[in-house]
Amino acid sequence: MKKVASGLLPVIAVDRKAPKALHRQVYDAYRAAIADGRLRRRQRIPSTRVLASELGISRFPVLSAYAQLLAEGYLESRVGAGTVVSSSLPDQLTSSAPTGVRFAVSRSGPRPVARRSSLLRLERSPWLLGWGAFGVGQVAVDQFPLHVWSRLVTRRCRTMDAKSSHYGDQMGSKALRETIASYLRTARSLHCEAEQIMIVGGSQQALEISARVLLDPGSRVWVEEPCYRLARDVFALNGCHLVPVPVDKEGLDVAAGIQRCRKARAAFVTPSHQFPLGVTMSAARRFQLLDWAQNAGSWIIEDDYDSEYRYESLPIPSLQGLDANARVIYVGTFSKVLFPSLRLGYIVIPSDLIDRFLAIRRAMDLGPPAFYQQVLADFIGEGHFARHVRRMRVLYGERRAALVDSIEKELGTTVELLGDEAGMHLAATLPKGSRDQEIAERAARQNLWIWPLSPSYLGKARPGVILGFGSSAVTEIPAAVRKLRTLIEMK
Ligand SMILES: Cc1ncc(COP(=O)(O)O)c(C=O)c1O
Repeated sequence: MKKVASGLLPVIAVDRKAPKALHRQVYDAYRAAIADGRLRRRQRIPSTRVLASELGISRFPVLSAYAQLLAEGYLESRVGAGTVVSSSLPDQLTSSAPTGVRFAVSRSGPRPVARRSSLLRLERSPWLLGWGAFGVGQVAVDQFPLHVWSRLVTRRCRTMDAKSSHYGDQMGSKALRETIASYLRTARSLHCEAEQIMIVGGSQQALEISARVLLDPGSRVWVEEPCYRLARDVFALNGCHLVPVPVDKEGLDVAAGIQRCRKARAAFVTPSHQFPLGVTMSAARRFQLLDWAQNAGSWIIEDDYDSEYRYESLPIPSLQGLDANARVIYVGTFSKVLFPSLRLGYIVIPSDLIDRFLAIRRAMDLGPPAFYQQVLADFIGEGHFARHVRRMRVLYGERRAALVDSIEKELGTTVELLGDEAGMHLAATLPKGSRDQEIAERAARQNLWIWPLSPSYLGKARPGVILGFGSSAVTEIPAAVRKLRTLIEMK
């Protein structure tokens, strides 16, 4: 006979000494739990045997209570699924408890919250998480070699032992850190050793840890104007004073930053492919930025989130690789090169700061989950990563070309295209006065997940749209752009 899994044990207290019969106590407890919503329709409940054993009573009273609840329609038996709370429970049974008391939540009285929790916008921007055409940060997941990945997952599962089930290295798996160090030295010209690498849950956590190690409340931080909002949020939440520094065709305008705030504690930059405008920082600006950091005693946080994909030239070497003074904290992620739900990224830490980063990290989460780090180390070590990146560069290059073509055809001179030489998104500015947030909201209703450009600015914003092309097939792009044109033209 097929064994049916038992449901979770609800909180049921029975008192053998109470005058109320045991079966009645069990019956009342279930009715109360159903009536006040702790047990929901179709939720599985424990078998009579399991419940009796957990409560330390004989099975008879439990059988009798279940029989009564079944007869009254509170529970139902499902072939192959055990006993569940009835799916057709009338509303009046779920809205009034037998005791006549429904658990009420009161929200009166003082309810203090941290001031920092009011620092960020509370709106839930629909375009952040939707899946479909133009989604920023979406990858060609159907092209990911899942068969290879699942083989590596299975192999790691089979070889899991006591040691690998315990807490892992708080800096991250040694094998993965070595693999990443070798990749970064070779492909990104970093100066780094595995000891400097900390594995984290994506760039977002890397930024949070870096901010906690390097910045105090009130510290001034240069942020690119416009900037990746989620990075800016981290510095704001840490109480920092944000100094927007304009970005032009050569990247961050270092001279403007120095003029605004020479003594900033840190600068946050995306030099390989500025987010959102897509510019690559020129060599002159890179050296100027490094000089500033050394002279001012400041840090540079380099977010190198999608540099593997360049279409008209070889990938640009990292800023960290040019830094002779260990002023750069380098942040990388697997969100673009593999897929974002993996939640794996890394920090390359100047060696004198490793212990501080580790102490802060330990207080946050005791280290990254071990399992997928091992799988990823295998994936990179066996050459699948390099192959995947090479294939994706070609594919994204085709998607980018199709998008640029369609935009030029449909939108012509209405928009200015920016940052299409690299990565998986580009930006298109819109005519002055366009309301890009409204356009993005209307687009989301048509399953187009564009990001408005204006929220990326702290000061005077340029309206525009940020368009991802990672997950859209070449054949789907022209229709999506035509829809976008209609949305832009709507007043
Ligand atoms: C500038 C920038 N940094 C980092 C990321 C990736 O963040 P994470 O590694 O936390 O997924 C993105 C994703 O869109 C990004 O645009």
